[in-house]
Amino acid sequence: MPFYVTTPIYYVNAAPHLGHAYTSIAADVIARHMRQRGEEVFLLTGTDEHGEPVAEAAEREGVTPQELADRNAERFRALMPLLEVANDFFIRTSDPRHVERVQEIMQRVYDNGHVYAGTYEGWYCPRCADFKTGNEIGPGDTCPIHETPLTREKEENWFFRLSSFQEPLERLYRERTDFVLPRMRANEARSFVEGGLHDVSLSRANLRWGVPVPWDPAQVFYVWFDALLNYVTALGFARDGEDLTATFWPASLHIIGKDILKFHAVIWPALLLAAGLELPEHLFIHGYLLMNDKKMSKSLGNVLDPLEVIERFGTDALRYYCLREVSFGQDGNVSPADFETRYETELANELGNLASRTLAMLARYRDGVVPRAELDQALAADFDGLGEEVAELIDRAELTQALERIWQRVRRLNRYVEERAPWKLAKDPAAAQELDATLRSLAEGLRCVAVLLQPYLPATAHTLLGALGAPGTDLAAARFGAGAGGEHVSALEPLFPKR
Ligand code: MSP
Repeated sequence: MPFYVTTPIYYVNAAPHLGHAYTSIAADVIARHMRQRGEEVFLLTGTDEHGEPVAEAAEREGVTPQELADRNAERFRALMPLLEVANDFFIRTSDPRHVERVQEIMQRVYDNGHVYAGTYEGWYCPRCADFKTGNEIGPGDTCPIHETPLTREKEENWFFRLSSFQEPLERLYRERTDFVLPRMRANEARSFVEGGLHDVSLSRANLRWGVPVPWDPAQVFYVWFDALLNYVTALGFARDGEDLTATFWPASLHIIGKDILKFHAVIWPALLLAAGLELPEHLFIHGYLLMNDKKMSKSLGNVLDPLEVIERFGTDALRYYCLREVSFGQDGNVSPADFETRYETELANELGNLASRTLAMLARYRDGVVPRAELDQALAADFDGLGEEVAELIDRAELTQALERIWQRVRRLNRYVEERAPWKLAKDPAAAQELDATLRSLAEGLRCVAVLLQPYLPATAHTLLGALGAPGTDLAAARFGAGAGGEHVSALEPLFPKR
C-alpha cells in the first residue's frame, strides 16, 4: 500500500528552529514506521519561498528574493539529514517545475468557474501572509500569533469562491470524522466552516515574487495557494521522467501545526474540489513547542537551535525528547534543563544501561551467545500484542502514546533484571537453566523494544540491533519470541554517554 506523508513547507525568511524540526521529525517517525510495515512510503518536505515576507527580508538584506531563498532553502535541506529525516524529496516552490504545475491547476480552477475579480480590504499580517477577521485580530489590531501590528490593506485582485464550498465542506466534516485528527481539531475546523465561509483573495497585485496568474500576469498568486499545491505538484517531478501522482495521490497524511489549520482544513479541501482533485485521507494537527509558555518563534526570540542540541546530545536524543516531552497534538514547554534530565534518566539510565548490562552479562556468562532457552512467560505476556498496539497508535499519529507504550516495556525490562538478578544466578551452578532463560528473555525484550524504537531512534536502534546480532527491523520482528536465540552479540559503547 502506498503511504504518502507530508510536512508543511517551511518559510525561507528565517533560519530553521526546533519548531520546524519538530514537524519533520514527527513525519519521519511515521514514515519509518510505515516502512517497517512494508508499505511503499513517500515522505515530502521542502520550502515555501514566495510571498511578501521573503521579498521584504531580501530587500532588507540587499539581495534578490531568489538569492535569499537559495541560501535559506539550503539550510532547511541540510537540516533534514542532520535530523535523520529520510525525506524522499525536497520541494522548493521557486522551482520552475512547481510554478508551471501551479499555473496549470489554478487555470483549471479558473476554467471551472471558481474565480472572480474583486476588491479586498482588511487587516493583514505580513508574517502569516494572511488577512485576519473576527477573533483572529488581537488587541490593538495585532496578530495574536506574532504579537506584531496588522496592516490595513486594500487592493483589486482575484477571489476564490470559498463560500460556494460551504455545503461540501460541511458534508466532509459530517461524513469523515477522522479527516482531521485529533478530534478536538476536527471540531475546530468544523465550527470554522459552520460559522460561514467567505470568499478569499487569491492573488496579489503589488508583489512580483510569486507565481504569475496565467490569465492576468500582472498579478501573482497569493502565497498560500502556491504553497498548498506543493503536496500535489511535487509528485509530478520528484523523480526524473516519472510521474508519481497516480501512485501517491491522494496523500495519506498531512502533518501540520495548529497555526495553519484553517488553510489545510478549509481552504485546501475546497481548492482540491475546485480543481477536481481527490482529498487527502487525513490531516494531523500538532501543537506548539513552547518556551516559558510562549510559542517558540523567531519573532519572539525564544528559539532553541536544533543544531546546537544535536552537537551536544546527538540526533536521536533530540528526536526522542521532542516526541516524549510534549504530547504530540498538544502544546508543551521544552527547556534545556528538562532535556538534560530526560537524557540522563531515560535515555542514558533506563535504555542505555539496560542495553550495556544485558550485552555485558551475555558476554560474561554465556560467551556472547544468546542461549536457546525457554522464554519467561510472564515477561512474554507483557510484550504480547505490543507491535499491533504501537501500529494502531501510529495510525492515528499518536506518537507520544506509542512511545510511552514502548517505554513501559523498557522499564519492565529494568525491573526484570532487578527481580531476576542474573549476577546471583551466575554464582549458582544449579541455576544455569534459569540464567539461560533470563538472559534469553532479556535479550529478546531488548530486541523488541529496539525494533519498535527504530522510527524514533534510528541510529540507536541500528547500533543496538547490530550488537544483538539481530539486525531485522520489520514490524513483524517486534514480536517477542521472533528472535530465534543463538545470536552472537557484541559489546556496546554507551548508547548515551555522559555529556
Ligand atoms: N509556509 C507555511 C506552511 C505552508 S504548508 C503548505 C508555514 N511555514 S512555517 O515555517 O512558518 O511553519 C512550518 C511549520 O512549523 C508549521 O506547521 C508550524 O506549526 C511549525 N512550527 C513553527 N514553530 C513551531 C513551534 N514553536 N512549535 C511547533 N511547531 C511550530 O507555516
